[in-house]
Amino acid sequence: MDPHGRVVIITGASSGIGAAAARAFAEAGANVVLAARSAEKLQTLAAGLPGRPLVLPTDVSDEGQARSLVERTLAERGRVDILVNNAGVGLAGPIAALNPRDLEQALAVDLLGPLYTTQAAVPAMRRQGRGQIINVSSVVGLQALPYLGGYAAAKAALDRLTEALRMELRGSGIAVTLLRPGTTSTGFSTRRLGSGKERRRVSPRGVPPEVVALALLRAARREPRLAYVSLADRLRVALAILFPGLTQWALSRAFSWEEK
Ligand SMILES: NC(=O)c1ccc[n+]([C@@H]2O[C@H](COP(=O)([O-])OP(=O)(O)OC[C@H]3O[C@@H](n4cnc5c(N)ncnc54)[C@H](OP(=O)(O)O)[C@@H]3O)[C@@H](O)[C@H]2O)c1
Repeated sequence: MDPHGRVVIITGASSGIGAAAARAFAEAGANVVLAARSAEKLQTLAAGLPGRPLVLPTDVSDEGQARSLVERTLAERGRVDILVNNAGVGLAGPIAALNPRDLEQALAVDLLGPLYTTQAAVPAMRRQGRGQIINVSSVVGLQALPYLGGYAAAKAALDRLTEALRMELRGSGIAVTLLRPGTTSTGFSTRRLGSGKERRRVSPRGVPPEVVALALLRAARREPRLAYVSLADRLRVALAILFPGLTQWALSRAFSWEEK
């Protein structure tokens, strides 16, 4: 749908892709609702955006807060047209030594957060007869990378949840889109959970978050089932599907692990 005049909730709006998406949607005429934990960063962002952005500090891993994000949006703006589940946290570490508590936390943000907001938004979208849920996953949801398996598992679970939701909402007027970005130049890897750092023989150059934001805007307008940010991401995923053995052999040679 055309985002102009629509109420668009964006989680993880305090930095990176979410902040760029907030700017892109606000400039396209949407009434954006900005959610993340850092209230101050959201206020600063909102002050520079056109329209009447609504700032709702939220920890999406807290069920009550995630549901209240949608409820307060409905109370203040009367509807929710597009829900962008973008908030996320990374997790690095060898699976054999992964701290299960870190994985629980990653799952709470990357999987349960989108579940809570979706469960709160679907009844309102059903009443409206229209809506869209966009879940921001990652190319690693389809092909894990060594030492990023916990994060990849959280995104893979989000992918399956999104697929099931799309089938269940067929015919309801609610579109469900999965966006799979590749490496993006944000501070994401500096904020992730885990005990060290993976070393890569070749480090991919990330795309700017504004490019991912444009892909989100496109996804809102076209409502695809699945969206990628770049052709390179699409090709990488296709290679992993067509040649899984070769892909995993190459990836295992390209990565090593360094404890902090
Ligand atoms: N960067 C990449 O290479 C890349 C690639 C593929 C997919 N992605 C995905 O893109 C999304 C955005 O990542 P990014 O690159 O923009 O990273 P980022 O700059 O670190 O942004 C993450 C956002 O999520 C918010 N967040 C984290 N935990 C939260 C929680 N418990 N409740 C609410 N908000 C929370 C953060 O805000 P607060 O800290 O203020 O809460 C921040 O606004 C994530 O889902 C990530 O998995 C990123």
